[in-house]
Amino acid sequence: MARLYLAPMEEVTGYLFRQILERHFGGVDTYFTPFLSPVTGCAFKTRQGRELDPSHNAGLNVVPQVLTDDADAALEMFGLLAELGYKEVNLNFGCPSGTVVKKRRGSGFLRDPEGMERFFDRLFSQELPMPVSVKTRLGYANAAEEWPRILEIYNRYPISELIVHARVREDWYGGTPDMDAFAYAYESCKVPLCYNGDIRNAADHAALLERFPKLSAVMIGRGAVTNPGIFREIAGGSVMTAAELKDFHDDLYRAYVNLWGVKNTLFKMKEVWGYLGDRYPDADRAKKRIHKCRTEAEYLAAAAELLG
Ligand SMILES: Cc1cc2nc3c(=O)[nH]c(=O)nc-3n(C[C@H](O)[C@H](O)[C@H](O)COP(=O)(O)O)c2cc1C
Repeated sequence: MARLYLAPMEEVTGYLFRQILERHFGGVDTYFTPFLSPVTGCAFKTRQGRELDPSHNAGLNVVPQVLTDDADAALEMFGLLAELGYKEVNLNFGCPSGTVVKKRRGSGFLRDPEGMERFFDRLFSQELPMPVSVKTRLGYANAAEEWPRILEIYNRYPISELIVHARVREDWYGGTPDMDAFAYAYESCKVPLCYNGDIRNAADHAALLERFPKLSAVMIGRGAVTNPGIFREIAGGSVMTAAELKDFHDDLYRAYVNLWGVKNTLFKMKEVWGYLGDRYPDADRAKKRIHKCRTEAEYLAAAAELLG
């Protein structure tokens, strides 16, 4: 059975979200942290420290994700992560954000295959403290033109697993995943291959594995925020009930308020509702109220309208 991964989602799948998902539903084999950029001069920034604090990830299989185009900075960070007890690290070659891409990081690196080779040559010339997996897109602008060359590069290095978000950078998160380009990877990839992109329910997962039975893993992001019980369900457990979703939401809300206070929590919850709201296609008014709310009372009243 292919393993199940929770995708990294900046501002959404931080450690509190991961802990609470695990406590309420489980079914996740591995959780990935949102990307962390190496910082020169200090070990970790505050947010990074919180994400990586071993006590915040106790009992969960957590893989930190690193975003950089500098192999030496990556190596230094891997060393620090190994000291904290992490057993695997993931490299981000997929982030489409303009500021990231401009610095040739994330999916910006995919435009520079020679640079990628130099990066991997340097990285894998050193003794690494743990396995290194890669999360990638299919290219920058055009998968048919770019993907075979990019995959050929990945195939030459001892990457522990390749996680493919089946889109190019210019798709951002829109359109539909390019399953033909993914099928090419399935045929040609020499390392364990994980699929990522638009898995929304157990039926999507089953159809994917019917077409690609030898996948090492399936990674789910937005679908798991819309339905945090998706992993339990795919793993053979029961379908999340409305009462379970309400309990999950209430725990998440309280944990966020304890850490960030109400104002920042409302901001975070609006992000979550950007996905959770998909469960309620006919509730535009209540969803609008959530997105406009400014006080805890307004938020809780609007959320209760949807969650019951
Ligand atoms: C708000 C948001 C934040 C994301 N942050 C990250 C990130 O930090 N690292 C990463 O590799 N991918 C990130 N992604 C991409 C997801 O991990 C995933 O590849 C993408 O959403 C497609 O999978 P899905 O359709 O299952 O959501 C992010 C996506 C979204 C929507």
